[in-house]
Formats: sequence, structure tokens, C-alpha cells
Amino acid sequence: MDAAHPRVLGYLGRALSLELSAVQQYMTQASLTDHWGDADAAQRFRQETVEEMRHAEAIVKRMLALGVAPGSSQLRPAGHGPNLEALLRQNMVLEEELVSLYGEAVRFCLLVGDTDNEAFFRQLWSDEQHHAEELAGWLRSLGGWRERHLERATF
Ligand SMILES: [Fe+2]
Ligand SMILES: [Fe+2]
Repeated sequence: MDAAHPRVLGYLGRALSLELSAVQQYMTQASLTDHWGDADAAQRFRQETVEEMRHAEAIVKRMLALGVAPGSSQLRPAGHGPNLEALLRQNMVLEEELVSLYGEAVRFCLLVGDTDNEAFFRQLWSDEQHHAEELAGWLRSLGGWRERHLERATF
């Protein structure tokens, strides 16, 4: 692979921190909902944990391929709350942040003509968009639906 633009490496570093924060958040919520006796929610959060871990792994591999040492700067504390709806709302914030980061990364890669990394970020953008949709559906099923303004693909 050609040397990537420093900003692309910056996006990868921020993405790794956010994805690992998502792993920590979903893992914590799986344990929390298990503790509440909600086996269904615990199982769904466990699946999310694995998906976010796969994202983190893909980013680590890409950073190594680009010749940079993977290192997430900071993990966010896992959000928690008094009930499932509160947890889902926190997850929605995190997923929307990921969608926004990947959208920005795709736009930048387009700008500098980096098609390889553009495709990489676009796939992650699509996955996180899908997560946000699923969360919105889950929230709606709990009666906690609020209008979500989807970020349209503007790239
Ligand atoms: Fe992710
Ligand atoms: Fe996600």
C-alpha cells in the first residue's frame, strides 16, 4: 500500500479508540442486563460486542499494513443507566458518532483520491449505519422511539 495521508492515519486512530470504547460499552451492558435478568438484551449486547471487536481488529490490521503502530489513545467510560431504554439511547449516541467519523473519513479520502482507504471507511460507515438502524428499531419496540435524522450519504 502507498503511504497514507497523515489525516487518514488520524481517522484510523480515532476509529480504533471509538470502536474499543464500543466494545467496552456493549460488554458492560451485556453484563448489566444479565444482572437485571434480561437474557435477551444480554445476548444482543454480546453480539454487538463481537461485531465492534471485529471492527477494531480490521482497523488494527489496516494500521499495521500502513506501517503504523496501532494504539488507541483513550477509552471512554462505558455509559450506563437505570434501564434498557437509557442504555440504548447512549448506544445511539455512540453509533451516530461512529457514523459521523466514518462519513468524514470517506469524504476526506475522496478528496485526496485515496480509493483504497475510502472503500475501507465506507464499509465501516455502512456497518455503523446499520447498527444505528437496529438500535432505532429496538428503541421503537420499547416505545421509546424518537425521530432520528439519518445522516444521508453525501459522498
Ligand atoms: Fe463498530
Ligand atoms: Fe456499531
